[in-house]
Amino acid sequence: MTRVAILISGGGSNMVALVESMTDNHPSRPVLVLSNDSDAGGLSKARDLGIETAVVNHRHYPDREAFERAINAQLDAVDADVICLAGFMRILTPVFTDRWAGKVLNIHPSLLPKYPGLNTHARAIEAGDTEAGCTVHIVTSELDDGPILGQARVPVKPDDTPATLAARVLEMEHKLYPAVLHRFVNGDTTPLYLQHDAEAPITPRLS
Ligand code: GRF
Repeated sequence: MTRVAILISGGGSNMVALVESMTDNHPSRPVLVLSNDSDAGGLSKARDLGIETAVVNHRHYPDREAFERAINAQLDAVDADVICLAGFMRILTPVFTDRWAGKVLNIHPSLLPKYPGLNTHARAIEAGDTEAGCTVHIVTSELDDGPILGQARVPVKPDDTPATLAARVLEMEHKLYPAVLHRFVNGDTTPLYLQHDAEAPITPRLS
């Protein structure tokens, strides 16, 4: 059984999608949800789902490296095999990325290599893109970089705002991330490509 830890900073909707996928004959189980922010809405959701939680507040450490050593200790304590970053809003140094090299996945709300960093939806709209989406990739020491394990595409509509586009992308994040994790723990790193179903109602889990 692969032991999966999930790192969050916010509402944790991707975390919930991942946790809910790891049941029955799935080869992994969630062992820890860790946040850098004790106010992260996802923490109570994780507790409600019966998952152990931890908070490592970056403000309590003198530098990124010390913060990451504290995270590493929490992940060691639960014997994590795979780590999913799910809306974890801290830049990571090699103290973390080297320690867990090849074992950390991240979801990013753009079609990488386009738009690493923040405000991806506003940037896609601003650029006049007709397509947007999300990417799951293996984490390296470069921000929003590393081998791509999957992408899901959605249309950008003429009247989209960053919020409406984010909702359409988030719906696909909740499909893509669990699907990629399942393949990854089975040793399959061939990229998975999903397409938005235009006919499907948009029912994102927003928080
Ligand atoms: C997602 O869009 C994720 O891709 C981005 O932050 C958002 C997190 O949402 N990095 P949630 O906390 O999973 O609801």
